[in-house]
Amino acid sequence: MSSPTRRKHHHVTRAIRLFSHRRAGGTACGAHRRCRQRRPPCRRNHRHDRTLHPPGHRRPPSGHDPRLPGRTHQPPRRSRTVLDGKHILVTGVVTTDSIAFAVARRAQQLGAEVLLTGLPRDLDRARAAAAQLTGDIDVIPFDATASHDTARLTATIAERWERLDGALHAIAFAPADALEGPLLNARPEGIGLAFQTSTVSLAALAAAVNRLAPPSGASLVGLDFDASAAWPVYNWMGVCKAGLESLNRYLARDLGPAGIRVNLVAAGPIHTRAATGIPGFEALLDAWATRSPLRWDPADSTPVADAVCFLFSDLARAITGEILHVDGGYHAMAAPLRQQGS
Ligand SMILES: NC(=O)c1ccc[n+]([C@@H]2O[C@H](COP(=O)([O-])OP(=O)(O)OC[C@H]3O[C@@H](n4cnc5c(N)ncnc54)[C@H](O)[C@@H]3O)[C@@H](O)[C@H]2O)c1
Repeated sequence: MSSPTRRKHHHVTRAIRLFSHRRAGGTACGAHRRCRQRRPPCRRNHRHDRTLHPPGHRRPPSGHDPRLPGRTHQPPRRSRTVLDGKHILVTGVVTTDSIAFAVARRAQQLGAEVLLTGLPRDLDRARAAAAQLTGDIDVIPFDATASHDTARLTATIAERWERLDGALHAIAFAPADALEGPLLNARPEGIGLAFQTSTVSLAALAAAVNRLAPPSGASLVGLDFDASAAWPVYNWMGVCKAGLESLNRYLARDLGPAGIRVNLVAAGPIHTRAATGIPGFEALLDAWATRSPLRWDPADSTPVADAVCFLFSDLARAITGEILHVDGGYHAMAAPLRQQGS
């Protein structure tokens, strides 16, 4: 065959292939891929889309579904956000600097309805912070060391919401002698109070979530400060956080069958009221400045809030018993990466 004849033959064969391919439900691009021509591609081969969409053809309106005759247009849908319609309880708001405040605000932005709890002696401050959120947000008095408060909290939530989809545990306290000085000098009562407030309270909140979770499950998230190694500061609070990490795994084990996920976010140092009570907190900030591969801003708790909201969301539906580090990568480095101030 002469060359023009061979080219013509090729286009005829290709047109037949394309036609039968389209009849079989294929697309023009699929037909093109099936072209076995070995030569440099012929320009005319790229006109297949014009074959499918002849002049005058108009793109169907978005929402057009060819499988539903007559349904050529659907009303535009409001884009959904990851916490749309979720009911989330946020403990631990005392000021607008609280990590819990950032979580409440982000959860609202992502579509959740939130309720806050406040320590009775901090209630006024917690309500002042809540006033900075969108809408009229209730602050329920809750002392994690008072066992009857958990039952009252559960009943109060049940009165307002038919279900609880998520809860944040952002509660910690230790008396000064449990936070500074030689470890062995701390009073046992102070250690007990720190453990009850900062660790056991996660189980109290888990009990409330377990009572109020819908059959589809729920998500409990706690805030941690990496307890896999000893810090030069932090003392018994470090021990309490190590307990929290262990409790996180046991709660995940027991509540998993009910679809309740339990996870921790291990945050880097953030300027909050609790942080100001930690002697040597500035030394932690210096350590972050030299060792964290990502820049760490101790005045910005929004990265922590975003991670918590991810764990609340269905995007994290197969994650439980996990500790998610939101610390600029500090935990993954073995030694300082740079000099102070460089
Ligand atoms: N700030 C940090 O650098 C940092 C880093 C990692 C983890 N965390 C953790 O984040 C959580 C929140 O702390 P924050 O830094 O936002 O400080 P914060 O002072 O804003 O919050 C601590 C909260 O604990 C509450 N609380 C104390 N005792 C309580 C009790 N008996 N019952 C109920 N609530 C009680 C306080 O009222 C307060 O709202 C804590 O678990 C803390 O250990 C903080």
